[in-house]
Amino acid sequence: MLGNQEIVQRFLQTNLQVHPDVVRYLREKKDPSLIDDILSRVPEGAVVVSPQYLPGWKREKDGERFLTDPALEVVYGHSARENGGVELKDFMYYFRDRYTQLSSIIRQRTGAMPIEALTRSTRYRQQDCTIIGMVMEVRTTANGHRIAELEDATGMLSVLFNKDRDVFADAEKLVPDEVVGVAGRLSGDGTMFFAETILRPDIPINHAPFTSKTPGKAVLVSDLHVGSNTFLLDEWNRFVDWLGDGDAEYLLIAGDCVDGIGIYPGQEKELDIANIYEQYDVLGEMLKDLPSRLQIVVAPGNHDAVRGSEPQPALPERFTQHFPKNVTLVENPCMVSLQGVHVLMYHGRSFDDLIGMIPGATYTRPDEMMEEMLRRRHLAPAYGLRTPIMAAKQDHLVISPIPEILHTGHIHICGMSRYRGVLGVNAGTWQGQTSFQKQMNIYPTPARAVVVDLQTLRPSVIDFLHGQ
Ligand SMILES: [Fe+2]
Repeated sequence: MLGNQEIVQRFLQTNLQVHPDVVRYLREKKDPSLIDDILSRVPEGAVVVSPQYLPGWKREKDGERFLTDPALEVVYGHSARENGGVELKDFMYYFRDRYTQLSSIIRQRTGAMPIEALTRSTRYRQQDCTIIGMVMEVRTTANGHRIAELEDATGMLSVLFNKDRDVFADAEKLVPDEVVGVAGRLSGDGTMFFAETILRPDIPINHAPFTSKTPGKAVLVSDLHVGSNTFLLDEWNRFVDWLGDGDAEYLLIAGDCVDGIGIYPGQEKELDIANIYEQYDVLGEMLKDLPSRLQIVVAPGNHDAVRGSEPQPALPERFTQHFPKNVTLVENPCMVSLQGVHVLMYHGRSFDDLIGMIPGATYTRPDEMMEEMLRRRHLAPAYGLRTPIMAAKQDHLVISPIPEILHTGHIHICGMSRYRGVLGVNAGTWQGQTSFQKQMNIYPTPARAVVVDLQTLRPSVIDFLHGQ
């Protein structure tokens, strides 16, 4: 961590004054080695270290000078990350890390007591206090109340959410394995905690998202399903023309790049391209047709040819030989920075789990489910259901740091949300309605792209099915 004082001191040691923009830059980068890098650029005899010596400084056409944030950076979710094998103890580490990360976010806003210390002594009976635990189990009683078993590193406690209290609405949305704080009081006999409030890790109420200092536009899409016989080629071609005429710098694809093979029974009847390598080769050719100025980020989804458990690795080289050079391959999930604006890309498999568990959640409202993820600061809170999760020493599905944009896909329905400054975008799909979706009464909203202005974080939807 670099403080203002420390940065100024470092430059003063070399008899140099430092411009406030340089201080701001270094504080945001949190990388002390950049100071030496900048010092090496300052010519002899200079008195002030001005922003022109920063990496990425450029002169714009009209003579105005801008401090350019690096265009595209992968914050985490690089294609190179090794995952190694999984051992039984990794599950223990995994849940411990999830608890540590999420409980420390809650602890920034409230004090909390370890469960064991609370229940061991009679001193805390019927006293107001807060505990933080992982939801081990949650059920409804015969009288309609909710009871959750909450566990922290020291113990476990039954927590009752009375159906006649305000807290009940929040308690109905509890899902297994999420980490919550609960304010309330312990029963007289010390066996039950009566809850008054649930404190989720959440996005702070005063959260102010970062915006780019320089102009920039990102186009967000997902679920191309190349190879499917319902891939919308005409609409895609209109999109390609539109990109060619426009000035967007970035294109982000949040998974299900191809339809894949053997994903569901009978899929072969719905494929135009039955070979997985050919599906990716065709995708590669499609990406080559896009303007070369674009920086393209490609993440996998559950239809892609990589391990299904999350984090899913980036597409391996054997599938991407025909991809153009301006493609960056990333994991699912991953965090990319576009001119400093953080975009958390997550395909969205866990929507399937949230829909079954959160009352009112439906496939037609991805916006609401993105908000539920942000409140829990977790992309896939419930473990062991339809979202396979790879146990590891770290829980990479925790939402940290807070992104400016959460970009998802998977459910093929366009939806957007703005939750405490974070923009949620689910653009939709480039596949028409499949026979499975017809059976399930799911009506996709295909052939849409969402453009986000990186200076304002304002989104706009472009519909290539009905217009353009
Ligand atoms: Fe999909």
